[in-house]
Amino acid sequence: METKNRTIFFEVCNLSISFGGLDALNDISFEVHKGEIFSIIGPNGAGKTTLFNCINGIYKPDGGHIIFKGQKIQGKRPDYVARLGIGRTFQNIELFTHMSTMENLMLGRHRYIKAGLLRGAIMWAKRSFAGREEVAHRRKVEEIIDFLDLQSVRNKFVGSLPYGTQKQVELGRALAMEPELLLLDEPCSGMNSEEKQDMIFWIKDIQDALGITILLIEHDMKMVMDISNRILVINFGKIVTEGSPEEVQKHPEVLRAYLGEQDNLENIA
Ligand SMILES: Nc1ncnc2c1ncn2[C@@H]1O[C@H](COP(=O)(O)OP(=O)(O)OP(=O)(O)O)[C@@H](O)[C@H]1O
Ligand SMILES: [Mg+2]
Repeated sequence: METKNRTIFFEVCNLSISFGGLDALNDISFEVHKGEIFSIIGPNGAGKTTLFNCINGIYKPDGGHIIFKGQKIQGKRPDYVARLGIGRTFQNIELFTHMSTMENLMLGRHRYIKAGLLRGAIMWAKRSFAGREEVAHRRKVEEIIDFLDLQSVRNKFVGSLPYGTQKQVELGRALAMEPELLLLDEPCSGMNSEEKQDMIFWIKDIQDALGITILLIEHDMKMVMDISNRILVINFGKIVTEGSPEEVQKHPEVLRAYLGEQDNLENIA
């Protein structure tokens, strides 16, 4: 959408969706600037994943707009949204466990494969990479394997890898799309503290070194406060507040919901 001087990178306007009688999202509006880490927090069932599902086309919202680089994308199919440059990881890992790390990352290149059918893409990811186009895709995937330090597991079946490494592979698959906007749904959930530190490092590096804009859902408040440029707080599908980490953590409802009696962010999970 054009304003006087610039195109807004990503914007959600008055977004609503309900399931039966439940308003999962109710009049949600916010704007994300290019290059920032914009986090979405809120209690279980607040509507965070539903928001991602509306953005990447899994759900069709009942009302409102989602605008990416000047184009309305609400109601568009997931493959269309992916081709425009919005990548995603899932709250529950979604990988092909019987395929190798390399093959899963090659599948992330499907945005660039002309024949869009999944079965065709799987055949393509598994074949010997002979053609010039495949060599170029493979080179890109090798870059991501290096970037995320996945060399030692490149030929291993994903199903055989530890949980934290699978989360890393899923991040790699999303990066293989070369997205401009990356949606990360609880990238650190279920991780031990060492895996979490690595994931935080990579998320920052994706922002700094790759220049990718990130929408992050995460329950670890310390991480969210450390890593985010801005934060949106939602509860029961509605906006509670939005602002910088400093602003958001002073909000009375955030204090009540997350801090309870203890004024200590480190104790929040
Ligand atoms: N397809 C669906 N059908 C019915 N209800 C749904 C559907 N998807 C989401 N909901 C409901 O919408 C509400 C928001 O769910 P959502 O998964 O977005 O929460 P969340 O903020 O991601 O929670 P969590 O932190 O536990 O992941 C919940 O009450 C959920 O049960
Ligand atoms: Mg969720």
